[in-house]
Amino acid sequence: MTETERNPVVCEVVDQVALLRVDAPPVNALSHVVRSGLADALAKAHGAGVTAAVILCEGRTFFAGADIREFGKPPKSPVLGELLQQIEASTIPVVAAMHGNPLGGGLELAMACHYRIALQGTQMGLPEVNLGLMPGAGGTQRLPRLVGLEEAAQIMLSGQPVSAQHALEIGLVDRVCETELPAQALAFAQELDAPRPTGLRAMPVFDDQPDLLSRLHAMVQKKYRGLAAQASVLECLEVTQSLPIDEALKEERQRFLQLVQGPQSSALRYQFFAERQAGRAPQDAHVGEIRSTAVVGAGTMGSGIAISLIDAGFPVHLLEIDGDALRRGLQRIDDHYRRVVDGGYQTAAAATAARGRLTGTTRYTDLADSDLVIEAAFEDLEVKRTIFTALDEHCKASALLASNTSYLDIDALGRITSRPTQVLGLHFFSPAERMKLLEVIRTGATSDAALATALAFARKIGKLPVTVGVCYGFAANRTYAAYNREVQNLLLEGAGIEQVDAAMREFGMAMGPCAVTDLTGIDIGVMARRAQANRPDDPRYFAVSDALYNAGLLGRKSGEGFYCYGNTRGASTQAQALIDSTAQGLGITRRAMDADTIVGRLLRAIQNEAEHAIAEGIVERESDIDIIWCNGYGFPRHLGGPMYQRSLSSEGVT
Ligand code: 3HC
Repeated sequence: MTETERNPVVCEVVDQVALLRVDAPPVNALSHVVRSGLADALAKAHGAGVTAAVILCEGRTFFAGADIREFGKPPKSPVLGELLQQIEASTIPVVAAMHGNPLGGGLELAMACHYRIALQGTQMGLPEVNLGLMPGAGGTQRLPRLVGLEEAAQIMLSGQPVSAQHALEIGLVDRVCETELPAQALAFAQELDAPRPTGLRAMPVFDDQPDLLSRLHAMVQKKYRGLAAQASVLECLEVTQSLPIDEALKEERQRFLQLVQGPQSSALRYQFFAERQAGRAPQDAHVGEIRSTAVVGAGTMGSGIAISLIDAGFPVHLLEIDGDALRRGLQRIDDHYRRVVDGGYQTAAAATAARGRLTGTTRYTDLADSDLVIEAAFEDLEVKRTIFTALDEHCKASALLASNTSYLDIDALGRITSRPTQVLGLHFFSPAERMKLLEVIRTGATSDAALATALAFARKIGKLPVTVGVCYGFAANRTYAAYNREVQNLLLEGAGIEQVDAAMREFGMAMGPCAVTDLTGIDIGVMARRAQANRPDDPRYFAVSDALYNAGLLGRKSGEGFYCYGNTRGASTQAQALIDSTAQGLGITRRAMDADTIVGRLLRAIQNEAEHAIAEGIVERESDIDIIWCNGYGFPRHLGGPMYQRSLSSEGVT
C-alpha cells in the first residue's frame, strides 16, 4: 500500500473475535491495496489475542474476484496466492462471511478460510473461464477437496455460479443464514475451537471414478472446442493429481499466468469491459422508474419481447387491434411456457407466475398507465405512425414510447408525437426471449433521462444494451448487411456456397452466412431492400438473393435456398446455377478463392461499414460493434469481435 492509498480494511474486535471489514467499491475486487490491507489486518488480529477472525465485505458483494484491471501488469506482493496461504496457515480459525457474488479469487479466498458462512441469495462461483482464464489462486486444488472432482470440474468448466443453498448441499459452505450476516458469522466464529484448512484434505482422484475423466474430455472437446481456458482447467486437474498441494499450487499458477498472457484471455477481458461501456448512461441523467409496461403487436417479435418482460417480473399489457391476432399471440406465449416447463428450463410455478403478469387487450385505453410501451408491429412506417399517434393520445405524458423497428426512421416517429424526447428505439434480436443483445436507439430528440431509463430497464430484463443512433439498419443490421453484401460479391466472383460457410465456421462463427440467410428466409432481406428509400445504384447489389427469390428459393421455409432441405442435402445446384448465370450476366470474371481471402474480405466489409457508422456518429466506439457482433451474430467472443481483430492486425498480431 502506498501512503496515498486508503486502507480499505478495518479491523475491530468484538467479543474476542476479529472482524475484518473490507470496503472497496464497487465489487471489493482483490486489488493490491485490498490484499495488503487484509494481510496486515490478519497479522494484527493474531497479535490481539483473539480466538477467531471473520472476513466480510461492505457494499453489494463479498470479493467478486481478483482485480481484472491488474492482469498483465507486474504482480505486486502479496499476490493473491500468498495472501491465501497466510490465511490457511493462520493459527486461529478464519471464517469467510459471504454475500452477493463471491467469484473467482473471492471464492478462492473463502476456500482458503477454514469455515464459510453465506447469506441466503448469495451466488458463488469460479467464472475465470469467461475471461479466458482458469482459477489461479488455489481454486483447482481447494474446490475438489471440498466438493469432489465432478462438481468442481462442472463449476470451473462452465463458469456458472451456484446458489448458497446448493453450496451448502455440496459442502462448499458450512452454514447459510437468512439475515444478519455479520452477527451470524460472529456467533459462528465463537463456536469454533481450531482452524480446519481445506488444503489438509486429500485430493480426490480420477482413478476412483474411472469414466469421469473421459466424460470431461469429451465435454471439453465438444462444448468448449478451441477454448484454451477450459482445456487448461482439465489438464491442470489431471497433472496435479499426484502432486503435494504446494507443488500443485505452483503448477496451477504457472498455467494461469500462461493464460493471462494468451490471446483468448486478452480478447475476453476486452469484451468484459466493452460490455459494461456499451450501455453506459449519460452522466448524471435521471433514471425514471418503470413499473408497468405494454407491448403493441403480438407477432413473433412482440410475443418474444412480452416473454422477456414478464419473465423479468414486469406486468405487461399485450395489445393487438385484431382479436384473432391477439389470441394467436397469447397461444404462442402459452406454447413457449409449455415448452420451457416440459424441457425443465423453468419451473411450472415460475412459468405460471410469469404468465400471470400478462394481460391481452385490443384497447389502447388499457395502456393509459404504462410507463413504457414497446411497439413491435409490422415493419412499415405508415403502420407505425398510426400506432404512435394512438399511443401518444392514450398514454400518460411521462410514458416512454419505444419502437422495435430494425430499419425505420425513429426520428420521424418521434416527430409525430407530442413527446419526441420520450421516444426511442428498443431493437430486440430474434428470438427476443433468448437473445441478450438490445440496440437502444437514441433519436436526435431523445432526452438523457429517457435514454438512461431505457438502459437501466434493459439491464433489469437481463439484456445487454448498446446505445446507437438513427440510420437505415442502425448499427447491427447496417454492418450485417455490409457483411452479407460482400458474401454475395464473393459468390459472384467465384467462391462456392459451402466454401464461404466453411471458411467462416472454421474462423469461429457459429454458422456460415449462407446457412443463416436460409434460416431467416431469403425473402425477408429482399422485401426490406425493396422498401429501402436509398437503394444503391449497383447492379451487383444483392443480385444473388434477388435471383434466388425470383426462382422461389426462399431458404428453409421453401425447402431450398442456398442449401437443399429435402431428401437431398448440401448446397443447392439450382442456387449455384443461378449464381453462375447472374455472374455471367454481370460480366464478372470468376476465379478460385481461398479461405483466408474469404474471411479477410468479410471482416473488412464489416470493419469498413463500422468505420462509416462511427464517423457519422451513429456508433460511439469500435468496441460497441464488437459487442453487437459477438452477442447478435455469433462472432466468437474469444476472438474479441471484428474491430478487435483489426486492432490486432494493425499491431502486427494475427
Ligand atoms: N475486477 C475489476 N473490476 C471489476 C471486477 C473485477 N473482478 N468485477 C467487476 N468490476 C467492475 C466492473 O468493470 C464495473 O466497473 P464500472 O462501473 O467502471 O463499469 C463495476 O465493477 C461493476 O460491475 P458490473 O457493472 O458488472 O456490476 P453488476 O452488479 O452487474 O455485476 C458482478 C457484478 C457479478 C460481480 C460482475 O461485475 C462480474 O461478474 N464481475 C467479474 C467477476 C469475475 O470474473 N471474477 C473473476 C476474476 S478473475 C480471478 O479472480 C482470477 C483468480 O482466479 C486469480
